[in-house]
Amino acid sequence: MTAMDYSGKHVVVTGGATGVGAGLLEVLAELGAPEVTVLDLREPTGTHTTFIETNLSQRDAIDAAVARINGPIAALFNNAGVADTSQRDIVLAVNLLAPIYLTDALLPRIEKGGAVVTTASIAGMAWPQRLPQHLELLAQEGWDAKAKWLDGRDLGTETYSFTKESMQVWTMRDAARLRGHEVRINSVCPSPIDTPLVKDFFETMGDDAMNFSIDTAGRMVTGREVAMLLAYLGSPAATFVSGQNIDIDNGMVASLKTGTASFKKA
Ligand SMILES: NC(=O)c1ccc[n+]([C@@H]2O[C@H](COP(=O)([O-])OP(=O)(O)OC[C@H]3O[C@@H](n4cnc5c(N)ncnc54)[C@H](O)[C@@H]3O)[C@@H](O)[C@H]2O)c1
Repeated sequence: MTAMDYSGKHVVVTGGATGVGAGLLEVLAELGAPEVTVLDLREPTGTHTTFIETNLSQRDAIDAAVARINGPIAALFNNAGVADTSQRDIVLAVNLLAPIYLTDALLPRIEKGGAVVTTASIAGMAWPQRLPQHLELLAQEGWDAKAKWLDGRDLGTETYSFTKESMQVWTMRDAARLRGHEVRINSVCPSPIDTPLVKDFFETMGDDAMNFSIDTAGRMVTGREVAMLLAYLGSPAATFVSGQNIDIDNGMVASLKTGTASFKKA
């Protein structure tokens, strides 16, 4: 068995219809995954064995999907996401509440040595500014308590960025808990990706910020490039890698952190 071999494995992917998720289905097929279950609003055209039509903004829909997913699961990819072009409640539910809820629901079915991998974003890079709030939110038990904590609260940044910050903090915070189950947890944090969603970010974040990111990185990252990193983190090749948020941005965030690139608003 090669390190990134998925043969004999059951993998669950959210948001597999387009963009990064579609790229992931392609990569998983190349790596020999025989069983791929996709949760999405729309049926993917890429290779999969089971499609469960699921609106991830609704807890009941996730419960219904979970009831249809058999274990053992080798890797869960929390990839579905929406931009701030969607309503605040939908963004909070799909990008933040759903990945945590789905992970907790499926954890007993994830095999030892398995992995949870989330598609976060460099948009969540400012999490240290709000770490106490994120930890307080994550300490709320269950969907309803977290939703109540979020309800009407000033998040201190755009809703989308807040959700991606939370995904990064959750990835770090819950590594200890998942270690107890012998399951790893990591996220990938892409710069702008060449997917259908990127036009929404031009709308919500503005041309200056988006073009700065794309120009500093050199270009947009492709969905397939992000998918290859996801697949690595979900595979035994990444054994002992956990609690990590890995930027996939051609060094853009590293340049910001070290002052070798800086964003000045026009
Ligand atoms: N595109 C970018 O520039 C960018 C940058 C950084 C991170 N991301 C993240 O990458 C991930 C994948 O996004 P993408 O760029 O491939 O976008 P995309 O719009 O192509 O894919 C998103 C997928 O999620 C599904 N989805 C959306 N709402 C859903 C819901 N309520 N229930 C179930 N499925 C739903 C869509 O049907 C689609 O298949 C997201 O988490 C996004 O936040 C995107």
